[in-house]
Amino acid sequence: SKSPVTVAVTGAAGAICYNLLFRIAAGDMLGTDQPIKLRLLEITPALKALEGVVMELDDCAFELLDSVEIGDDPNTIFDGVNLAMLVGARPRTKGMERGDLLEANGAIFTAQGKALNAHAADDVKVLVTGNPANTNALIAQSNAPDIPAERFNALTRLDHNRAIAQVAQKAGVPVSAVTNMTIWGNHSATQYPDVFNARINGENAFEVLGSDFDWVENTFLPTVQKRGAAIIDARGASSAASAANATLEHVQNWVLGTPESDWTSMAIPTSGAYGIDSGIISSYPVTVTDGTTSVVEGLEINDFSRAKIDASVAELREEAAAVKELGLI
Ligand code: NAI
Repeated sequence: SKSPVTVAVTGAAGAICYNLLFRIAAGDMLGTDQPIKLRLLEITPALKALEGVVMELDDCAFELLDSVEIGDDPNTIFDGVNLAMLVGARPRTKGMERGDLLEANGAIFTAQGKALNAHAADDVKVLVTGNPANTNALIAQSNAPDIPAERFNALTRLDHNRAIAQVAQKAGVPVSAVTNMTIWGNHSATQYPDVFNARINGENAFEVLGSDFDWVENTFLPTVQKRGAAIIDARGASSAASAANATLEHVQNWVLGTPESDWTSMAIPTSGAYGIDSGIISSYPVTVTDGTTSVVEGLEINDFSRAKIDASVAELREEAAAVKELGLI
Protein backbone atom coordinates (compact mmCIF):
# COMPACT_ATOMS: atom_id res chain seq x y z
CA SER A 1 0.00 0.00 0.00
CA LYS A 2 1.03 3.62 -0.54
CA SER A 3 3.01 5.46 2.11
CA PRO A 4 1.09 8.30 3.80
CA VAL A 5 1.07 11.87 2.52
CA THR A 6 1.41 14.50 5.25
CA VAL A 7 -1.19 17.24 4.82
CA ALA A 8 -1.19 20.41 6.94
CA VAL A 9 -4.39 22.43 7.16
CA THR A 10 -4.61 25.78 8.94
CA GLY A 11 -7.71 27.40 10.38
CA ALA A 12 -8.66 23.86 11.22
CA ALA A 13 -11.39 24.73 13.74
CA GLY A 14 -13.07 27.10 11.28
CA ALA A 15 -16.12 26.74 9.05
CA ILE A 16 -14.35 25.78 5.81
CA CYS A 17 -12.28 23.13 7.54
CA TYR A 18 -15.37 21.59 9.14
CA ASN A 19 -16.39 20.84 5.56
CA LEU A 20 -12.91 20.00 4.33
CA LEU A 21 -11.11 17.74 6.79
CA PHE A 22 -13.64 14.91 6.66
CA ARG A 23 -13.54 14.80 2.87
CA ILE A 24 -9.73 14.75 2.83
CA ALA A 25 -9.75 11.91 5.35
CA ALA A 26 -12.37 10.02 3.35
CA GLY A 27 -10.12 10.00 0.29
CA ASP A 28 -12.02 12.56 -1.81
CA MET A 29 -8.87 14.59 -2.48
CA LEU A 30 -6.00 12.19 -3.17
CA GLY A 31 -7.88 8.98 -3.80
CA THR A 32 -9.25 6.13 -1.74
CA ASP A 33 -5.90 4.31 -1.80
CA GLN A 34 -3.87 7.18 -0.33
CA PRO A 35 -3.32 7.19 3.45
CA ILE A 36 -3.14 10.66 5.02
CA LYS A 37 -1.39 12.11 8.04
CA LEU A 38 -3.23 15.27 9.08
CA ARG A 39 -1.47 18.18 10.80
CA LEU A 40 -3.91 20.79 12.00
CA LEU A 41 -2.89 24.34 12.90
CA GLU A 42 -4.99 26.78 14.92
CA ILE A 43 -4.47 29.78 17.14
CA THR A 44 -4.23 28.92 20.84
CA PRO A 45 -7.78 29.96 21.85
CA ALA A 46 -9.25 27.69 19.15
CA LEU A 47 -7.35 24.54 20.16
CA LYS A 48 -10.14 23.31 22.43
CA ALA A 49 -12.68 23.55 19.61
CA LEU A 50 -10.17 21.81 17.36
CA GLU A 51 -9.94 18.94 19.86
CA GLY A 52 -13.66 18.50 19.31
CA VAL A 53 -13.14 18.30 15.55
CA VAL A 54 -10.47 15.66 16.10
CA MET A 55 -12.90 13.67 18.28
CA GLU A 56 -15.31 13.69 15.35
CA LEU A 57 -12.55 12.63 12.94
CA ASP A 58 -11.83 9.73 15.33
CA ASP A 59 -15.51 8.87 15.37
CA CYS A 60 -15.58 8.50 11.60
CA ALA A 61 -13.01 5.71 11.87
CA PHE A 62 -11.61 6.68 8.48
CA GLU A 63 -9.39 3.85 7.31
CA LEU A 64 -7.13 6.21 5.33
CA LEU A 65 -6.47 8.49 8.29
CA ASP A 66 -3.09 7.39 9.57
CA SER A 67 -2.72 10.06 12.27
CA VAL A 68 -3.87 13.52 13.38
CA GLU A 69 -1.68 16.04 15.17
CA ILE A 70 -2.83 19.46 16.28
CA GLY A 71 -1.01 22.53 17.52
CA ASP A 72 -0.53 26.29 17.47
CA ASP A 73 3.10 26.40 16.31
CA PRO A 74 3.59 26.36 12.53
CA ASN A 75 7.20 25.20 12.99
CA THR A 76 5.97 21.95 14.52
CA ILE A 77 2.84 21.48 12.43
CA PHE A 78 4.62 22.08 9.09
CA ASP A 79 7.50 19.71 9.87
CA GLY A 80 7.86 17.37 6.89
CA VAL A 81 4.54 18.32 5.25
CA ASN A 82 3.98 17.49 1.59
CA LEU A 83 0.88 19.64 1.24
CA ALA A 84 -0.02 22.80 3.13
CA MET A 85 -3.55 24.12 2.78
CA LEU A 86 -3.56 27.58 4.32
CA VAL A 87 -7.22 28.23 5.06
CA GLY A 88 -6.98 30.17 8.32
CA ALA A 89 -6.74 33.92 8.11
CA ARG A 90 -7.70 36.98 10.07
CA PRO A 91 -11.17 38.10 9.00
CA ARG A 92 -11.95 41.77 8.51
CA THR A 93 -13.68 43.01 11.66
CA LYS A 94 -15.60 46.21 12.30
CA GLY A 95 -13.54 49.35 11.90
CA MET A 96 -10.67 47.55 10.20
CA GLU A 97 -9.25 49.30 7.13
CA ARG A 98 -7.93 47.38 4.16
CA GLY A 99 -4.37 48.21 5.20
CA ASP A 100 -5.04 46.81 8.70
CA LEU A 101 -6.31 43.60 7.12
CA LEU A 102 -3.23 43.24 4.93
CA GLU A 103 -1.02 43.89 7.94
CA ALA A 104 -2.78 41.41 10.25
CA ASN A 105 -2.67 38.72 7.59
CA GLY A 106 0.83 39.73 6.65
CA ALA A 107 2.03 38.74 10.10
CA ILE A 108 0.34 35.32 9.80
CA PHE A 109 1.59 34.52 6.29
CA THR A 110 5.10 35.81 6.97
CA ALA A 111 5.42 33.44 9.91
CA GLN A 112 3.86 30.54 8.02
CA GLY A 113 6.06 31.13 4.95
CA LYS A 114 9.18 31.08 7.14
CA ALA A 115 8.03 27.94 8.94
CA LEU A 116 7.35 26.17 5.63
CA ASN A 117 10.73 27.25 4.31
CA ALA A 118 12.49 25.82 7.35
CA HIS A 119 10.50 22.63 7.95
CA ALA A 120 8.33 21.44 5.05
CA ALA A 121 9.23 18.44 2.87
CA ASP A 122 11.25 19.15 -0.28
CA ASP A 123 8.22 18.51 -2.49
CA VAL A 124 5.80 20.74 -0.55
CA LYS A 125 2.92 22.40 -2.39
CA VAL A 126 1.18 25.31 -0.68
CA LEU A 127 -2.35 26.47 -1.46
CA VAL A 128 -3.72 29.64 0.14
CA THR A 129 -7.50 29.90 0.60
CA GLY A 130 -7.53 32.49 3.42
CA ASN A 131 -8.24 36.01 2.20
CA PRO A 132 -6.87 38.15 0.66
CA ALA A 133 -5.74 34.85 -0.85
CA ASN A 134 -3.52 35.99 -3.74
CA THR A 135 -1.58 38.48 -1.67
CA ASN A 136 -1.35 36.17 1.35
CA ALA A 137 0.16 33.58 -0.99
CA LEU A 138 2.62 36.18 -2.30
CA ILE A 139 3.67 37.01 1.27
CA ALA A 140 4.16 33.34 2.18
CA GLN A 141 6.10 32.70 -1.03
CA SER A 142 8.35 35.73 -0.53
CA ASN A 143 9.19 34.49 2.95
CA ALA A 144 10.11 31.01 1.70
CA PRO A 145 13.08 31.63 -0.60
CA ASP A 146 14.22 27.98 -0.58
CA ILE A 147 10.90 26.68 -1.93
CA PRO A 148 10.41 27.10 -5.70
CA ALA A 149 7.96 29.97 -6.25
CA GLU A 150 5.59 27.88 -8.36
CA ARG A 151 4.79 25.73 -5.32
CA PHE A 152 2.67 28.60 -3.99
CA ASN A 153 -0.86 28.88 -5.35
CA ALA A 154 -3.95 30.82 -4.33
CA LEU A 155 -7.51 29.60 -4.67
CA THR A 156 -9.77 30.82 -7.49
CA ARG A 157 -11.39 27.45 -8.05
CA LEU A 158 -14.53 28.50 -6.19
CA ASP A 159 -14.97 31.38 -8.63
CA HIS A 160 -14.27 28.96 -11.49
CA ASN A 161 -16.94 26.55 -10.27
CA ARG A 162 -19.41 29.39 -9.71
CA ALA A 163 -18.86 30.56 -13.28
CA ILE A 164 -19.44 27.06 -14.65
CA ALA A 165 -22.67 26.76 -12.68
CA GLN A 166 -23.98 30.10 -13.98
CA VAL A 167 -23.19 29.22 -17.60
CA ALA A 168 -24.77 25.76 -17.27
CA GLN A 169 -27.93 27.22 -15.78
CA LYS A 170 -28.19 29.88 -18.47
CA ALA A 171 -27.70 27.31 -21.23
CA GLY A 172 -29.94 24.72 -19.58
CA VAL A 173 -27.22 22.07 -19.74
CA PRO A 174 -25.61 19.91 -17.06
CA VAL A 175 -22.44 21.37 -15.53
CA SER A 176 -20.44 18.58 -17.16
CA ALA A 177 -21.18 20.16 -20.56
CA VAL A 178 -19.35 23.35 -19.58
CA THR A 179 -15.56 23.20 -19.96
CA ASN A 180 -12.56 25.45 -20.50
CA MET A 181 -13.70 28.09 -18.02
CA THR A 182 -11.11 30.61 -16.86
CA ILE A 183 -10.92 33.00 -13.94
CA TRP A 184 -8.31 35.69 -14.56
CA GLY A 185 -6.73 37.93 -11.93
CA ASN A 186 -7.53 38.37 -8.26
CA HIS A 187 -9.89 36.40 -6.01
CA SER A 188 -11.89 39.57 -5.39
CA ALA A 189 -14.72 41.52 -6.97
CA THR A 190 -12.37 42.47 -9.84
CA GLN A 191 -11.83 38.84 -10.91
CA TYR A 192 -12.66 38.19 -14.55
CA PRO A 193 -14.57 35.02 -15.46
CA ASP A 194 -13.97 34.45 -19.19
CA VAL A 195 -16.97 33.08 -21.07
CA PHE A 196 -15.40 33.83 -24.47
CA ASN A 197 -12.92 30.96 -24.22
CA ALA A 198 -15.29 28.62 -22.37
CA ARG A 199 -17.10 25.82 -24.19
CA ILE A 200 -20.50 24.21 -23.99
CA ASN A 201 -20.49 20.67 -25.39
CA GLY A 202 -17.26 21.66 -27.14
CA GLU A 203 -18.72 24.75 -28.85
CA ASN A 204 -17.87 28.37 -28.04
CA ALA A 205 -19.93 29.17 -24.92
CA PHE A 206 -20.55 32.83 -25.80
CA GLU A 207 -22.00 31.86 -29.17
CA VAL A 208 -24.07 28.98 -27.77
CA LEU A 209 -25.55 31.50 -25.32
CA GLY A 210 -26.68 33.62 -28.29
CA SER A 211 -23.73 36.05 -28.30
CA ASP A 212 -25.61 37.92 -25.57
CA PHE A 213 -23.03 40.48 -24.55
CA ASP A 214 -25.49 42.28 -22.28
CA TRP A 215 -25.94 39.08 -20.23
CA VAL A 216 -22.19 38.64 -19.95
CA GLU A 217 -21.51 42.16 -18.80
CA ASN A 218 -24.55 42.88 -16.68
CA THR A 219 -25.60 39.50 -15.29
CA PHE A 220 -22.87 36.88 -15.56
CA LEU A 221 -19.90 38.94 -14.41
CA PRO A 222 -21.54 40.61 -11.41
CA THR A 223 -23.24 37.38 -10.35
CA VAL A 224 -19.93 35.50 -10.22
CA GLN A 225 -17.96 38.43 -8.82
CA LYS A 226 -20.47 39.11 -6.03
CA ARG A 227 -21.46 35.53 -5.30
CA GLY A 228 -19.61 35.46 -1.98
CA ALA A 229 -21.56 38.48 -0.74
CA ALA A 230 -24.86 37.00 -1.99
CA ILE A 231 -24.20 33.85 0.04
CA ILE A 232 -23.42 35.86 3.16
CA ASP A 233 -26.71 37.74 2.60
CA ALA A 234 -28.69 34.53 2.25
CA ARG A 235 -27.05 32.27 4.85
CA GLY A 236 -25.80 34.85 7.29
CA ALA A 237 -22.40 33.17 6.99
CA SER A 238 -19.73 33.01 4.35
CA SER A 239 -19.53 30.15 1.87
CA ALA A 240 -17.92 27.22 3.62
CA ALA A 241 -18.93 23.93 1.99
CA SER A 242 -18.38 25.25 -1.53
CA ALA A 243 -15.08 26.87 -0.51
CA ALA A 244 -13.97 23.57 1.03
CA ASN A 245 -14.96 21.71 -2.13
CA ALA A 246 -12.98 24.15 -4.28
CA THR A 247 -9.92 23.92 -2.02
CA LEU A 248 -10.02 20.15 -2.27
CA GLU A 249 -10.50 20.17 -6.06
CA HIS A 250 -7.59 22.57 -6.57
CA VAL A 251 -5.22 20.29 -4.67
CA GLN A 252 -6.63 17.22 -6.40
CA ASN A 253 -5.87 18.67 -9.85
CA TRP A 254 -2.51 20.01 -8.72
CA VAL A 255 -1.38 16.61 -7.44
CA LEU A 256 -3.20 14.20 -9.75
CA GLY A 257 -3.45 16.37 -12.88
CA THR A 258 -6.19 18.11 -14.84
CA PRO A 259 -8.50 16.08 -17.09
CA GLU A 260 -7.40 15.76 -20.71
CA SER A 261 -9.05 18.30 -23.06
CA ASP A 262 -9.96 20.67 -20.24
CA TRP A 263 -8.16 23.13 -17.99
CA THR A 264 -8.81 24.74 -14.63
CA SER A 265 -8.16 28.08 -12.94
CA MET A 266 -5.37 28.52 -10.43
CA ALA A 267 -3.72 31.65 -9.12
CA ILE A 268 0.01 31.14 -9.70
CA PRO A 269 3.15 33.32 -9.57
CA THR A 270 3.20 35.39 -12.76
CA SER A 271 6.04 35.23 -15.26
CA GLY A 272 4.94 37.21 -18.30
CA ALA A 273 2.22 35.03 -19.83
CA TYR A 274 -0.60 37.09 -21.37
CA GLY A 275 1.42 40.24 -20.74
CA ILE A 276 1.34 39.88 -16.94
CA ASP A 277 4.86 40.49 -15.61
CA SER A 278 6.29 38.75 -12.57
CA GLY A 279 5.71 39.91 -9.01
CA ILE A 280 2.13 38.87 -8.24
CA ILE A 281 0.05 35.71 -7.89
CA SER A 282 -2.71 35.91 -10.47
CA SER A 283 -5.32 33.47 -11.74
CA TYR A 284 -4.78 31.82 -15.12
CA PRO A 285 -6.13 28.95 -17.20
CA VAL A 286 -3.78 26.08 -16.35
CA THR A 287 -3.25 22.41 -17.02
CA VAL A 288 -1.34 20.07 -14.77
CA THR A 289 0.32 17.11 -16.50
CA ASP A 290 2.78 14.73 -14.81
CA GLY A 291 3.04 17.17 -11.91
CA THR A 292 3.88 20.19 -14.06
CA THR A 293 1.60 23.22 -14.06
CA SER A 294 1.46 25.07 -17.42
CA VAL A 295 -0.43 28.16 -18.43
CA VAL A 296 -2.71 27.45 -21.40
CA GLU A 297 -1.21 29.46 -24.22
CA GLY A 298 -2.67 31.07 -27.30
CA LEU A 299 -6.15 31.97 -26.07
CA GLU A 300 -7.74 34.88 -27.82
CA ILE A 301 -8.25 37.84 -25.51
CA ASN A 302 -10.72 40.38 -26.88
CA ASP A 303 -10.64 44.06 -25.92
CA PHE A 304 -13.35 43.64 -23.31
CA SER A 305 -11.48 40.77 -21.64
CA ARG A 306 -8.16 42.61 -21.85
CA ALA A 307 -9.52 45.63 -19.99
CA LYS A 308 -11.06 43.46 -17.26
CA ILE A 309 -7.90 41.37 -16.83
CA ASP A 310 -5.76 44.52 -16.70
CA ALA A 311 -7.98 46.03 -13.99
CA SER A 312 -7.75 42.95 -11.78
CA VAL A 313 -3.99 42.70 -12.31
CA ALA A 314 -3.69 46.39 -11.39
CA GLU A 315 -5.49 45.65 -8.11
CA LEU A 316 -3.05 42.82 -7.40
CA ARG A 317 -0.11 45.15 -8.09
CA GLU A 318 -1.58 47.67 -5.62
CA GLU A 319 -1.92 44.97 -2.96
CA ALA A 320 1.64 43.84 -3.62
CA ALA A 321 2.89 47.43 -3.37
CA ALA A 322 1.02 47.88 -0.07
CA VAL A 323 2.57 44.78 1.51
CA LYS A 324 5.97 45.75 0.16
CA GLU A 325 5.51 49.12 1.83
CA LEU A 326 4.79 47.25 5.08
CA GLY A 327 8.03 45.30 4.63
CA LEU A 328 6.18 41.98 4.32
CA ILE A 329 7.67 40.96 0.97
P1 NAI B 1 -13.54 30.93 10.03
O1 NAI B 1 -13.42 32.26 10.71
O2 NAI B 1 -14.71 30.05 10.32
O3 NAI B 1 -12.24 30.07 10.33
C1 NAI B 1 -10.95 30.60 10.22
C2 NAI B 1 -10.11 29.91 11.27
O4 NAI B 1 -8.76 30.31 11.08
C3 NAI B 1 -10.51 30.27 12.69
O5 NAI B 1 -10.79 29.09 13.42
C4 NAI B 1 -9.26 30.97 13.23
O6 NAI B 1 -9.02 30.72 14.61
C5 NAI B 1 -8.17 30.37 12.36
N1 NAI B 1 -6.94 31.15 12.31
C6 NAI B 1 -6.78 32.50 12.35
N2 NAI B 1 -5.50 32.84 12.36
C7 NAI B 1 -4.81 31.68 12.30
C8 NAI B 1 -3.43 31.37 12.29
N3 NAI B 1 -2.51 32.33 12.36
N4 NAI B 1 -3.07 30.07 12.20
C9 NAI B 1 -3.98 29.10 12.15
N5 NAI B 1 -5.32 29.32 12.19
C10 NAI B 1 -5.72 30.60 12.25
O7 NAI B 1 -13.41 31.24 8.48
P2 NAI B 1 -13.74 30.30 7.23
O8 NAI B 1 -15.14 30.50 6.82
O9 NAI B 1 -13.27 28.93 7.52
O10 NAI B 1 -12.84 31.01 6.12
C11 NAI B 1 -11.41 30.95 6.19
C12 NAI B 1 -10.82 31.92 5.20
O11 NAI B 1 -11.13 31.55 3.89
C13 NAI B 1 -11.27 33.37 5.34
O12 NAI B 1 -10.16 34.21 5.17
C14 NAI B 1 -12.21 33.53 4.18
O13 NAI B 1 -12.29 34.89 3.77
C15 NAI B 1 -11.52 32.70 3.15
N6 NAI B 1 -12.33 32.27 2.01
C16 NAI B 1 -11.72 32.18 0.80
C17 NAI B 1 -12.40 31.76 -0.32
C18 NAI B 1 -11.71 31.67 -1.63
O14 NAI B 1 -12.39 31.32 -2.61
N7 NAI B 1 -10.43 31.93 -1.77
C19 NAI B 1 -13.83 31.42 -0.23
C20 NAI B 1 -14.39 31.51 1.09
C21 NAI B 1 -13.65 31.94 2.17
